[in-house]
Amino acid sequence: MKEATPRTIYLKDYSPPDFLINETVLRFELGDETTRVVSHLRIRRSATADTAAPLVLDGENLALVSVALGGKPLPAEAYLVDDKSLTLPNVPDAFELTVETCLRPQDNTRLEGLYRSSGNFCTQCEAEGFRRITYYLDRPDVLSVFTTTVVADAAKYPVLLSNGNPAASGLLEDGQHYATWHDPYPKPSYLFALVAGDLACHRDEYVTASGRRVDLRIYVEAHNADKCAHAMASVKKSMQWDEERFGLEYDLDIYMIVAVDDFNMGAMENKGLNVFNSRFVLARPDTATDDDYEHIEGVIAHEYFHNWTGNRVTCRDWFQLSLKEGLTVFRDQSFTAEMTSGTVKRIGDVRRLRTHQFAEDAGPMAHPVRPAAYMEINNFYTVTVYEKGAEVVRMYETLLGRDGFRRGMDLYFKRHDGQAVTTDDFLAAMTDANGADLEQFRRWYDQAGTRGWRSRTSGSRKQDATRCVCASPAHRRPDSR
Ligand code: PHE
Ligand code: ZN
Repeated sequence: MKEATPRTIYLKDYSPPDFLINETVLRFELGDETTRVVSHLRIRRSATADTAAPLVLDGENLALVSVALGGKPLPAEAYLVDDKSLTLPNVPDAFELTVETCLRPQDNTRLEGLYRSSGNFCTQCEAEGFRRITYYLDRPDVLSVFTTTVVADAAKYPVLLSNGNPAASGLLEDGQHYATWHDPYPKPSYLFALVAGDLACHRDEYVTASGRRVDLRIYVEAHNADKCAHAMASVKKSMQWDEERFGLEYDLDIYMIVAVDDFNMGAMENKGLNVFNSRFVLARPDTATDDDYEHIEGVIAHEYFHNWTGNRVTCRDWFQLSLKEGLTVFRDQSFTAEMTSGTVKRIGDVRRLRTHQFAEDAGPMAHPVRPAAYMEINNFYTVTVYEKGAEVVRMYETLLGRDGFRRGMDLYFKRHDGQAVTTDDFLAAMTDANGADLEQFRRWYDQAGTRGWRSRTSGSRKQDATRCVCASPAHRRPDSR
């Protein structure tokens, strides 16, 4: 099928959403042929929006079954559907909308939205995959409280998971069963996740600094059940480190990791339910090297650290991707430096930066840490956004000192917990917490290149002949290692 010509999206065109979604209640009926999704949304018009603004929900590749407003089914003339959206021209200022769609996850080979991997159901929503599950305001600055019920065959799919805490479960007729999950923390749709399948569970627990018990679970295919111990130890170390170094505690009753074989990236920080490419979870002494062990620990830490830098405080728009990725890479680098040798870790990171990021920055793909325009956001999960972004965060720490950096982080969370913000907000927190003048520093976000105009005009540059050591970044496509 021919896709429409992509449009360029500009940072300068950002405008806040016209509608907000207070509550999202989802019901998935997973089937081998079709999967039915019923989405019940409590929507209100934003205070700043035009009272005549239509409601435009994102949606791609969906079969729309029905739409109801305030419980009343809408006739087809009352809305507009095209291949990218569902539009309701006339809606009140506050209302409940029910949308039913049908999916065929078994045919989904893009690994975005709901798909199947080794016979199990699994989702991937960052950056814009949720719109392939249901019609929604699929943008990171729309935060909603999600309650998700998953219904499936009890024999084929004994494990039913979603974000948040378990709320209810039980048997239904015809061999079906269900589980309901409630996530009390408002989140954007890109952090949504669902997993259903026949999976083995490796369990443990962690008691947080304030004494709360957290249930820890790693779900894998049964034949991998003996390869989870290192990943589990890494989760506990990460939780403890974030408490000690940044005063950040885990916030749900349960933290789950699922390892799947089909996954586009390294791993994904969905709230309370991280999904990993299985190669970044599974390790056993007789089949994994020391590097593999360190790498797994780093990726586990990265995804765990996102719970605060990415999930509790998220991005206003995708131009701000480095707000969560640069900061979280810096945090996982700092963690690994303390768990292993700080010097060796730094040498590895700098080598990788020089080999990959400098090359990207010197070529046709050069872009700033905060790009000003994009056509396809999926092409911006780059070494510049991640690793150069982490170097920019590291410079705050260098300039402000470890204590000054911590004061900035504390203020950032105090101001922005539960919000979708920008790299300017991060800079403002660092500035205000320290009475520093970081006006010049702003340029690091907007200017591409590693060494100013000279490197681009002089032409010749001595190439680094060092071995490529692609260690930890969680984003790196696994086949590029
Ligand atoms: N957000 C993930 C991470 O860096 C990377 C990712 C992006 C995974 C997009 C899947 C899709 O931790
Ligand atoms: Zn990340």
